[in-house]
Order: sequence, then structure tokens, then C-alpha cells
Amino acid sequence: MIRLCDYRAPAWRVETVELDFDLGIDASELRSRLRLRRDPAQDAPLRLDGENLQLLSISLDGVPLPATAYRYAGNVLEVDGAHDGSVLETRVRLRPAANTALEGLYLSGSREAGFLLTQCEAEGFRHITFFPDRPDVLSSYTVTLRADRERFPVLLAGGNPDGAGELEGGRHWARFVDPHPKPSYLFALVAGRLEVLERDYVTADGRAVQLKIWAEADAIDRCHYAMDALERSMRWDEQAYGRNYDLDVFHVVATHDFNMGAMENKGLNIFNAKCLLADPDSTTDDEYRHVEAVVAHEYFHNWSGNRVTCRDWFQLSLKEGLTVFREQSFSADMNSAPLKRIEDVSLLRRAQFPEDAGPLAHPVRPAQYSEINNFYTATVYEKGSELVRMLAGALGQDGFRRGMDRYFERNDGRAATIEDFLAALGEANGTDLTPYLAWYGQAGTPRLKAHGQYDAAAHTYTLSLGQRAPGGNGAEARPPLPIPVKLALFTRHGDMLPLHLDGQTSGSSNEMVVVLDQAERDFVFTNVVTAPVPSLLRGFSAPVVLECDYAPDELALLLAHDIDGFNRWEAGQQLAARAYENLRDGNASDALLAWCDALASLFGNATIDDALLADLLTPPGEVELAERESAIDPQRIHQLRQELQQRLAARLGADALRQRYAALAAHTSIALDAVSQARRRLKRRVLELLALLDRDGAAELAAAQFRDAPGMTDRLAALSVLVRGGAPQASTALLEYRARHAGDALALDKWFAVQAQLPGEPALERVQLLERDDAFTLKNPNRVQSLLGAFVRNNPSGFHRIDGAGYRLLAERLVSLDALNPQVAARLATAFNGWQRLESRRREAARTVIVELAAHRGLSRNLAEIIGSVLN
Ligand code: PHE
Ligand code: ZN
Repeated sequence: MIRLCDYRAPAWRVETVELDFDLGIDASELRSRLRLRRDPAQDAPLRLDGENLQLLSISLDGVPLPATAYRYAGNVLEVDGAHDGSVLETRVRLRPAANTALEGLYLSGSREAGFLLTQCEAEGFRHITFFPDRPDVLSSYTVTLRADRERFPVLLAGGNPDGAGELEGGRHWARFVDPHPKPSYLFALVAGRLEVLERDYVTADGRAVQLKIWAEADAIDRCHYAMDALERSMRWDEQAYGRNYDLDVFHVVATHDFNMGAMENKGLNIFNAKCLLADPDSTTDDEYRHVEAVVAHEYFHNWSGNRVTCRDWFQLSLKEGLTVFREQSFSADMNSAPLKRIEDVSLLRRAQFPEDAGPLAHPVRPAQYSEINNFYTATVYEKGSELVRMLAGALGQDGFRRGMDRYFERNDGRAATIEDFLAALGEANGTDLTPYLAWYGQAGTPRLKAHGQYDAAAHTYTLSLGQRAPGGNGAEARPPLPIPVKLALFTRHGDMLPLHLDGQTSGSSNEMVVVLDQAERDFVFTNVVTAPVPSLLRGFSAPVVLECDYAPDELALLLAHDIDGFNRWEAGQQLAARAYENLRDGNASDALLAWCDALASLFGNATIDDALLADLLTPPGEVELAERESAIDPQRIHQLRQELQQRLAARLGADALRQRYAALAAHTSIALDAVSQARRRLKRRVLELLALLDRDGAAELAAAQFRDAPGMTDRLAALSVLVRGGAPQASTALLEYRARHAGDALALDKWFAVQAQLPGEPALERVQLLERDDAFTLKNPNRVQSLLGAFVRNNPSGFHRIDGAGYRLLAERLVSLDALNPQVAARLATAFNGWQRLESRRREAARTVIVELAAHRGLSRNLAEIIGSVLN
């Protein structure tokens, strides 16, 4: 276990790093020269990290070291005799083609056609060479690559190019110097046959930059959208944060073999192809937005992560939460802000709330870990972003910008902490933000209780707010958190009331933020002329669960009238959840009727945005609904949710749905503008609803849509309706899709994923069948995600079979996968999270499987940690 409280500054630093690679697919050799600096206040021996390295030679200050002068054991190289200013030189041999973990130096693609690349975050550099592999050791890098020119025509590393040339025997070389000291996790190289897309860019402060996106020949034509997104990101960061790019070149590379989404290596970002490549025939609208978001995210890291990095991995959210927040603001500016907020909060609820409610819960800044790779979580990323959002809200737009300027200025070239961040933001604004530190240190989703009382005689409205820490260890002893609650008051006619709090006006405003920083507090609004309906937590102003005793008609009122797009949707979600409970408990149908009526009138309203309408017509997902229950039966949840949607569809009416579908289907453009995307989104939702009323009719429409689809969004939507609805046309459509997109890995991933999400019992057999498909392999993380990930994570009714067969399948695959790629195995294993809250038969089945898996010998540290935590 590594603990935050044990942090010590490094005893040895590395001032300069010179790396010389002789690259080959099966074997690569690397000579490293490190100039060392010793902390005079410490007298620890020189210890360098190094995992499974084949050490060929070692010398200190030019003198080869005898075997007695160093020891390499337990992934640590200890060297005697080093002093401040010493130069340590080592040579190691690496085996890229044998590296299936995709960490360190590895091969992407085939031995014949593939290329070499590195992945170092968090601790991959120690798989490449001996080094104090920790983010608070910042060094200047000079990297020289040598390789066969035919096989590796392109040689790239981070930093500015510093020469290239020919060598004997058909070989060539290229050198890169990075003027910005950086931690080892930001090192990267790429070598192989790649094509390039180039664009010239001039930064706001006048630097000419070459933007270069690299991909294999069959993919380079699908990089144009990413290039545009990159340029937009660079401009936006200049305008919104005053941040300019700081090298002469910016490389971006696409690979199909990657454990995560993408990586912000300095000057050489590496992307999972699914987060970079895009074209209308193989990319959906959602995926386009995702590409834009990930390109922006990685680019923004150049300041939030690279120029200012993290002192240790406990501070991971310092770069990730902040960068997610920056990306969310960017995407909101580029697209529709309320839709972006809905998408992000949905993700938070689907991925982060369950994580925070189960045995894998951890604070945004964890206090300890055994395997850091297991902490690239929704909590660190998404909840971390929500914390930054609260801070930004507390300071206001100008204040936040002032604070960020201060943060970047003061910490540039440093490895910082969350405290440094809060201090910079606070000091630039003459305010103390340390109360927010508590948010970083505690796990669990807080509950916010709200109750309103109107006094008709006094014209006052008292809003009582209270907070409750989530259950679990020492919850009662936790101090209250500052919870910003953005609010408005509505009349029963749907108008907003001006706000006067405790006598003082809030200007002319009818929206304000109150901060609950005690366990409970009353806020008294005066001059309230009529009993109001409060709109609370607008824009989701804090990552909490709101418990408010709304009547169904009050939620319906907000759904109809709230001008905060997010809260309008949120009112609908709350109402839908109540409607779901009506069905489940069979005791009333007030919420069900109110929900259906409200949506029916919105459906006929021509002024509402099509995309927002599509989201309003979608009740909370199965995972979210499960979060509200104690003895979870995922199959019953699925059935009830289907029934809920069927009631809605019936209320809207088959004719109205058909008409709307036809009107939307009349537009056949593949344009990516907001209006076209919104139409496609609503068209899909309408078709899905129609399928619940008129199976055959909807299947015919879907089959036609599949056949005539001008792009992937419509094609995949139609395919999904056919497959999930069990339509007879599904099998031909699947064959056609397969043939049409043969050779396109990303399109094929979607083919697997659609089928893995077949609802209910049949899913397992389908997954097993697909595992035997020639195109399936455990070696490719995207393929694993598309079949197994989609099954265990996005298909609760299929995975949680009562006979436990889903659990057994997962456990078996985890063992095989773990031997190849521990990071991917560990991530997949988090699907077991929450098993304790399943109803008893499934719980028992899951327990048996997990206990057996935990006892399996030889599991990786990654997988063992997840399984161990899940069991507790
Ligand atoms: N740092 C990357 C990002 O969030 C994610 C990542 C982590 C990629 C670890 C690879 C390995 O942008
Ligand atoms: Zn990131």
C-alpha cells in the first residue's frame, strides 16, 4: 500500500536525460544517460525504478560498474557511489512485440505492418529504462531514435525536432529536444509507417506551430475532423484561459491498440483510434462529439497537467478533474450547453454514483492505493470536475480566470498539489477556499434535503436545507461540506419570482446561489407573493443527491416551464423515477400520469429543441434506477422501464409517433450542425418508442432506415432497434453491416457492442457465439470493451442472469485477459461492483464466483486489488 501521508520529496532528481534508441520490433536497445542531483538534506542511496528490464551494461561517471556496486532486484536498481552531479549510463534491451500489456514500449498492429509506440502514464517509463519514475522528478529530455528506414520511415518523440539524417545499412536517425522539463510519465516515442495530415497554426502570442496528425494509411483520411477540433481547442484555450501552445510542433498519433482513451504526452499526444478517427460513414454523432472532447482534453493537458504537473499520483485529479472541467466548458461553448450538461451529469450518475456507493468508493484524492492504474476512475475524473465547477461557481467567471492565471503562473514548471490549486484560486480572489478541501478527502455522494414552507400572510418562503454524509465509516463524524445550491422560485403559472433573501435583494435577479455550509440551515425569502415551486440545484450546482418532497404536479410544472434546460430535464427525470415507482409498487399512478401528460404536451410543442426533447423522452437508465433500490433485480428493472416507456409511447400515440418519425426522416442530410444532429437524435428516440407499440411497423421503418441511412448515426440506430427488438430483419442487417464495414475495426466494434446489449437471457449465448468470431480477440482492448465491456457494463438485464452464468463468464475471461493485459482486466472487473446490493439469489451466485476468483493464484496486482476491494 502506498499512502499519501508517507510522501517524501525525492532524494535524487534527474536534471537531464539523454535516451538513444535502436528500434526493432522484436528487440529494441536503449542507452540512457542521466545526470543526477542529490538532495543534500537526505542521504538515501540512489534507487531507480525498473520493471522486467534486461540490463546490458551500467556505468557511473564513465566507469563500468562491477557487479558488487549495484543490485537489481524487486523492480529496483540500487547503485553505490553516486554523488551530486554524477552521470549514470545504462543499456537495456526491450521486447516490444512481446508486450501485450500495452504499457512501456510496444507494437501496435501486426509485426509486418504495425508500428512501435510507448505509453508511460502512470508508471510505464520504468518498463523502458531505469529512472526515479515519479511525477515530481522533472527533467530535460534529449531523445535520439535510430531504425531501419524502410521499416520505420517515421520517427517521432516529444519536444522540438533537432536534426535527422542517414546511417549506414539503410538506417536513419532523428533527434528531439524538449525545452520544457517534464516528468517521465509524459515521455513518448512513435516509430513506423504512418501518414500525416498537416496544418500550420500561429498562436495568439505569435508562435508558428506545425500541427501533425499521424495515422496508418487507411485511416489518414479520417483525421480531418480531429484536426479542426484541435485548432478549435487551441484557439479556445487562448481566449478562455490565455494559454498558448509552447513547442514548434504538435504531434497527434492514432493507434488501435490502446488501454485508455488518449494520452497527453508532451508534444506527442497518442490517441486510441476510436477517440480520433471520424467520418460520416463510420462515426455516429455522439462519437463525433466525443472525438472533439478528447482532442480538447488532451490538448488542454498541455497546461493543466504538463506545464503544471502533479506532485504525486494522489493528486491525479489536480490534472484530470481540472482538465475534464476545461473540456466540458469548451464543449459547452462549441455545442449546446444544456445538452452537454445533461450528458455529463448522466455519465456522473451512471458511472460515478455507483462507484461512490459501493466497495470501490474512494475520495477524489485517495489516501492510499496499491495499484495506481486502478485510480483512473469516474470519481477522479468526473467528480473531480464537479469540484472544480463548484470552485469556479464560487469565484464567478472573472474571479475564476484570475485564480487560474495565478495557479498557472505560480506553479509553472512545478509538480503541484490540490492545496496549491485552492491556494492560488483563493489568494487571487482574497477568499479562503479551504473548506472545499473536505470535498477532496471524503468518498460517497452527499444527500441534500430540501423542504419549503410558504407563509401566505407574511409573504415569506422558508427553504430548509440539510445535508447528510453518505453512510459508512465515520459518516456521522464528518464535518459539513460547502454545498452551493443555485435556485429560482416559480409561480404556479411558470413565471420566475424576483428573489429577496432575508430582506436583502439579489439585484434584479431571479436566480441566485446559496451555500449550505452547515448541517442544516433555513433560508427565508421575503416578498414572495404566491406559493412558489422551487427549482433547486440548477445546472446541477453540486454533485449531491437532492431529496425534495415535490408533488408530481410541481415536477411537471418545472418540466414544462423551467428555463434552465438542465433543470427542466432533471424535473422530468425525477418525475419519471416516481412514475417508475408507481408501476413497481402498483399503488398509485399520479406521477405516471403527470409525466406522460407533460411530455405529451411538449411533444406537440414546436418550439422545443429536438435534441432536448429526445432527452426529455428518455427516462433514467437501468443503472440509475437500480441505484434507488436495495434488493436489485436487474431483469425486473428492465421490464419495468420498458413498461414505463410503453406507457409514454401509448400516451403520445402511435399515429403521432409515426408522423413525427416521417417528418424527421424527410431530412436526409449527414451534416453535423446542431439542428441535423438533433433531428437524428429525436428520430431514433421516436422510433424506439414506436417499437414498443407497433413492433412490426417499427421494424419495417428501421429496416428501411438501415438500408437507406446516409451515415452511421442513422444506420446504427436502426440496427440497434432491429437487434434489441428481436426483429426478423435483424440478422440480415447484421450481415450487411458486417460486409459493408469489413476491415473497419471501429465500425466492427459497434457491431459487437450492439449485439452484446441484447436484453435479457439471450444475451449470454450471443456473447459466447461472438467470442468465437474470427474478428474477436482478447488482445485488443477496444474489441474486449465492445463485446465483454458492453455486456457486463451496459447490459444489466443480460449480465445479471439469475443462474449466475454471466458472472462465471466474466470471471473466466478475466483470468485469461489478466495474463495478457492487467489494466484492461482490472477495469472490466469493476463490473462486479455493487454485487452486495443484488437480490439474494444473484448475490449468492456473484459471491461464489468472486470468492473463487479472489483465490485464483497468480492474478496481477491490478486485478487482485479490484477483486479484493469488491469482496469487502
Ligand atoms: N492521462 C490520460 C488522460 O486522461 C489518460 C491515461 C491514463 C492514458 C493512463 C493512458 C494511461 O488524458
Ligand atoms: Zn486527462
